[in-house]
Amino acid sequence: MPGKVLVTEPIHDDVLNYLREKTNLTVGKRGEYNSKDTLITAVKQYDAILSMLSNPFSRDVLEEAGSLKIVANYAVGYDNIDVAAAKEFGIRVSNTPGVLTDATADLAMSLLLTVARKVCESQQHLRDGKFDGWHPLGFLGMELKGKNIGIIGMGRIGRAIAKRARAFGLNIHYHNRKPVDSSVEQSVDATYEPDTKKMVRHSDILVLACPLTPETRHLINAETLDMMPNHALIINISRGPVVDEAALAKALHQGIIGGAGLDVFEEEPIVHPDLLKAPNTVITPHIGSAAKEARRAMGLLAANAILDILDGKPAESISNLVI
Ligand code: NDP
Ligand code: DGY
Repeated sequence: MPGKVLVTEPIHDDVLNYLREKTNLTVGKRGEYNSKDTLITAVKQYDAILSMLSNPFSRDVLEEAGSLKIVANYAVGYDNIDVAAAKEFGIRVSNTPGVLTDATADLAMSLLLTVARKVCESQQHLRDGKFDGWHPLGFLGMELKGKNIGIIGMGRIGRAIAKRARAFGLNIHYHNRKPVDSSVEQSVDATYEPDTKKMVRHSDILVLACPLTPETRHLINAETLDMMPNHALIINISRGPVVDEAALAKALHQGIIGGAGLDVFEEEPIVHPDLLKAPNTVITPHIGSAAKEARRAMGLLAANAILDILDGKPAESISNLVI
């Protein structure tokens, strides 16, 4: 057995069985390692941890590590891990890029279509017994063809969203810190916008697909929301804190923007109470990658990074290492 491995909560059986055959495996209970105290006991005991994005690997947790060699995050985003501290303490970090890209882009499009066509509001109306027949003015939404979509974060998921958006006839604008290759721009017919404020002003639909970093925290706030057209829709599949949730809830209630599709929240699992009651707002419980195929592949990618590190393989040969 190459080492003691903890998977912090149950994941796909295939992945657990795969790891069980090759390591001394422990599987935590749902939510067991969401607190620093339990994580500190874990970093002292295990050689490798397959972690969830709800596990807070802060500096004060990581500095307690004993023989821990790798934290393999079961997510592409790794804002729950203090990567600089991990590097300082000689702990590798891996993530799960690529295998969840299509699932997450599909969810972004589901939120977009649902909000644009008021699917949830109109369904609720029907379920409440209020449907009185076809209505010439009922639940008028937004047609997508010819509208401007602004994508913040034209990485793997941003590009997959752009590809889908193109099929719906949307005009694609994007913002990154630097433009993507012109061949990528051409493949999805996307235009680079270096100025986020300009993009926000001209977007009928704004999609957030960037990582959470100090630069992107509250990138969308009261000021940017004020700049948006009143009919504009916001779709967030990135991380909750990229949006100032209180400001967004206010903008939705006051009609400053036209709707929102949100898969992520500032203080998960808490959702701002005003968002729960906001008009034309669709909220899903962080399910971007929740397709069976994606989750199995994420697990195998994380498991293989653990096995490779415990086997002493060179870091350069492990493609999904963050550090
Ligand atoms: P990538 O690294 O492929 O793409 C991230 C993109 O964001 C890059 O194009 C990068 O470009 C851009 N970016 C980084 N910093 C900034 C910034 N300050 N301003 C504007 N753009 C920026 O990641 P993925 O596409 O694979 O994933 C993106 C994020 O989506 C993840 O980090 C995760 O938080 C979230 N996610 C959420 C899921 C869900 O379940 N809802 C599922 C999967 C991912 P550049 O470096 O040039 O700025
Ligand atoms: C990620 O991968 O970053 C998601 O938030 C969960 O799949």
